[in-house]
Amino acid sequence: MSSEYKTRRTFAIISHPDAGKTTLTEKLLLTGGAIRMAGAVKTRGDARRARSDWMKIEQERGISVTSSVMTFEYDGKTCNLLDTPGHEDFSEDTYRTLTAVDSAIMVIDAAKGIESQTRKLFEVCRLRDIPIITFVNKVDREGRDAFEVMDEIQEALALDVTPMVWPVGMGTDFKGCYDLVNNIYHTSSRQGGGYDTKIACSGLDDSQLDDLVPSGILEPMRENAELAVAGYPEFDLTSYREGHLTPVIFGSALKDYSIEPLINFIVKNAPEPRPSQAASRSVEPAEDKVSGFIFKVQANMDKNHRDRVAFMRLCSGSFKRGMKLKQVRTGKDVQMHSPIFFLAQDREIADDASPGDVIGIPNHGTVRVGDTFTEGEALKFTGLPAFAPEILRRVRLGDSTRIKQLRSALEDFAEEGLIQVFKPAIGSNWIVGVVGILQLDVLADRGKAEYKIDISYEPIPYQLANWVKADDPIKLKAFLDANRNNIVHDRDDRPVFLSKSPWELNYTTEKNPDIQFLKTRELD
Ligand code: G4P
Repeated sequence: MSSEYKTRRTFAIISHPDAGKTTLTEKLLLTGGAIRMAGAVKTRGDARRARSDWMKIEQERGISVTSSVMTFEYDGKTCNLLDTPGHEDFSEDTYRTLTAVDSAIMVIDAAKGIESQTRKLFEVCRLRDIPIITFVNKVDREGRDAFEVMDEIQEALALDVTPMVWPVGMGTDFKGCYDLVNNIYHTSSRQGGGYDTKIACSGLDDSQLDDLVPSGILEPMRENAELAVAGYPEFDLTSYREGHLTPVIFGSALKDYSIEPLINFIVKNAPEPRPSQAASRSVEPAEDKVSGFIFKVQANMDKNHRDRVAFMRLCSGSFKRGMKLKQVRTGKDVQMHSPIFFLAQDREIADDASPGDVIGIPNHGTVRVGDTFTEGEALKFTGLPAFAPEILRRVRLGDSTRIKQLRSALEDFAEEGLIQVFKPAIGSNWIVGVVGILQLDVLADRGKAEYKIDISYEPIPYQLANWVKADDPIKLKAFLDANRNNIVHDRDDRPVFLSKSPWELNYTTEKNPDIQFLKTRELD
C-alpha cells in the first residue's frame, strides 16, 4: 500500500471573471516553479497555433473557455491545479472539474465582493463539501473595507471566516500585507512596488512597523487587525476541512502579495485526496488497486491528428505506465501505453501517478466523460451530472456536402461536454442544447476552425429538454409514440421530451404519472 497520495494537493480556483484567477494561477505556478501546462501537451508548433486559433474567442472576449491541469511541486508536495473555465456559460464543464478536486481557492475582487459566478461555483463546492480558502485580491487598488468583505463572505455564503493575512492600507495607501498567523509583514523595497521584502515581527505591536508604515495607516490597521482576530472565529482545521469555515487571505496577485501564505496554507492544511464515492461503495485512496474516472475530454488538441485527450482523476492505487485498465462501461481492457502526465518535467516520476493526480489518456473517441477505469472491479463513480440544456437550437449547415464533418464536429463537442446533441424523431436536422448562449458561438467558431464547416442556428419553439424514463417499457413506448413531435434522442439514444414552457412540462407530467421527467442524468 503506497502512501504517496498523501503528498498530493488537488485543487481548483473558483472566481467570477476578472477577479484575477489567471494572474493568481500564473503566480502560483511561478512560485512553485511550474512544470507544464496541459494546454502545451504535444506542442509542436502547428498544434500550438491550432489551439490558440480556436482560443481566439477567448482572447476577443477576455474569458477562459478551456480547463486544463497544471502540476507543480512545492515544499515536498505535488500540487495539481485544475483550471476551471471562468465564464458562467460553461458551468457544465466547470461542475465536472470540481468533481475532481479535493479543495478550492475562491478568488474575490476586493472592490466587488462576492459576484454571481463566485456564488454559483461556491454552491457546487458546498454540495460536495469541498473546503475553500478565500483570497481577497487587488488590495493594491481602492477596495471595500476589509470588514465589509469578511462580513459579506460570512453572510452571503453562510460560512465562518477567519482572517489569516490582513491588508496594510488599501489603494493609494497600500503598503503591504500582514500575516496574522506567522506575524510576518510583507512589503516592498520600492514605493508602490511588488512584494519583495519579509519582516518577522513579534506581533502587531512590533515597533519595527512604526518605522516602516506611516502612522496614519499603521494605527487604524493595528486596531482593525486586532479587532478582526478577536472578533472572528479562530482557525479550526476540522471546520475548514468540513467546509464550514473559510480562512481569508487579503493580497494582490498582480503585485505578488500573499501568494506565499496562500500556497503554504494549501500544502499544510488543504486535504490530501479524499475517498471517492462509487455506486457500490466508497473507494479509499490507499487501496492497492488502481481506479479513476474521466471528468473531461478535450478534442483536437492537435489539429493534424483528430486526437482527443480524456482527463482521468486517479482515485486509488499506484498507476504505472503501460498497465491495463478496464473501462467499466464497455467492459474492455485498455492498455495505458501512452498516458500523458502533466508532471512532465521529470521523466522518472512521470511513469507513475498516485491518487489525486490527473492523467491524460489519448484516444479516438472511445473514452467518455463519466467513464470509470479499474483493475477489474465493476465500480462506477458517481456525481458527474449532465445538465438539461437551457437553450435549444436547430443546426443549419452552410454547405450540405460537409454533413459528415458536421456529424463528427457535433459528436466531438458533445463528447467534450460543450454541447448536447439531439436527433429528432421526426425530421433530420440535429438540435443542439447548451447551458449558455456563448457555447453556440464557440461551437460555430470551432466548427469553422477545426472542421471547416459553417454553422448557423434556427430557433425552435421549445424551451426545455428533459430525459424521460419509466419502469414499464410498454408505458414508455406508448408515451413516446403519442408525443412523437416532442421527442428527440440524445447521442446515447435516450429519449428526451421537449416542451415549450414550464407550464407544458407540468401539464404533461401530471397527465403521465408513470413517466419520469429528469432534469439531469448521471453520465454513464
Ligand atoms: P480572471 O482570470 O479572473 O478573469 O482575471 P485576470 O487574472 O485576467 O485579471 C483581470 C484583470 O485584473 C487583469 O487586468 C489583471 O491584471 C488585473 N489584476 C489581477 N490581479 C490584480 C491585482 O492584484 N491588482 C490589480 N490592481 N489588478 C489585478 P487586465 O486584463 O490587465 O486588464 P487591463 O487592466 O490590462 O485592461
